Amino acid sequence: MGMTPPPDLKLIDEQGRRIDGRAPNEIRNIRMRAGVLKRADGSCYLEWGGNKVVAAVYGPREVHPRHDQDATKAIVRCRYNMSPFSVDDRKRPGPDRRSQEISKIMSEALAPVVLTQLFPRTAIDVFTEVLQAEAGTRCAALTAASVALADAGIPMKGLVAACAAGKVANTVVLDLNKEEDNYGDADVPVAIVPKTGDVVLLQMDGDLTDAEFYQAMEYAVQACKQIHELQKQALLDRYKDAAEERASERPAPGGDDAEPGEEEPVIGEPGDGLDEEPVSPAGDEEVFG
Ligand code: CDP
Repeated sequence: MGMTPPPDLKLIDEQGRRIDGRAPNEIRNIRMRAGVLKRADGSCYLEWGGNKVVAAVYGPREVHPRHDQDATKAIVRCRYNMSPFSVDDRKRPGPDRRSQEISKIMSEALAPVVLTQLFPRTAIDVFTEVLQAEAGTRCAALTAASVALADAGIPMKGLVAACAAGKVANTVVLDLNKEEDNYGDADVPVAIVPKTGDVVLLQMDGDLTDAEFYQAMEYAVQACKQIHELQKQALLDRYKDAAEERASERPAPGGDDAEPGEEEPVIGEPGDGLDEEPVSPAGDEEVFG
């Protein structure tokens, strides 16, 4: 944020388009898939523009260290981690101030949404790993984490959807990309529970006027609603897949052996469901028209 752009870089062109061709109120392509990790209770893999994030949920489970446990409710612990190869300059492995901050804001966004009173003395652990980062990773991680929580069967008031808005070259824009994040004037990550309307994350880096702030919020909330639809679809697809898997595991009529089930699709290989047309809300008239 706030870096001086190279002299030949136009963040907004004469037609009002951004460097990646998007209109100011358009988000990048998003696709997500629930239930990608066998050993996690719930999981989600999400691609959002150039961001690639995986989320894994474990719990409710015993709390270690035990003195962290709460006799009245579950504790929600989030870890946000960036892999060393996720950014241009190798990221030094391990927690730094930024990842600690993001882990904290994620826990604080998710804890009020999870029905923690149902699971006293337990922990619900949420791990998010950023495999590739192109700005907006906290929103991507939070969006994936909430799908992974639902995939784990954790009761919640609703899903949490997140998206940033901000300002570049005097224009309020939605979902900043890497250049816009570097050379822009403001970045406002927002997370809401679309079902209840609650805002569970609101941060601001840079300056906006009141009018710009309300415009940014309006863009972000509209985007969260669209992202919420993609989250619900990912969960529906997950349970459709699970039902088909179970059916294929049933013994074949008249024989002891089960019909050979289809192999689990592998992300990045044909048939993983991710090489299809992205389920992108970009340009969706209903929301952005
Ligand atoms: O990712 P997000 O926008 O939520 O957080 P940020 O702190 O505003 O970081 C913006 C972007 O800077 C990240 O998404 C990465 O692409 C990049 N970054 C980086 O290149 N190296 C780091 N050590 C941290 C962030």
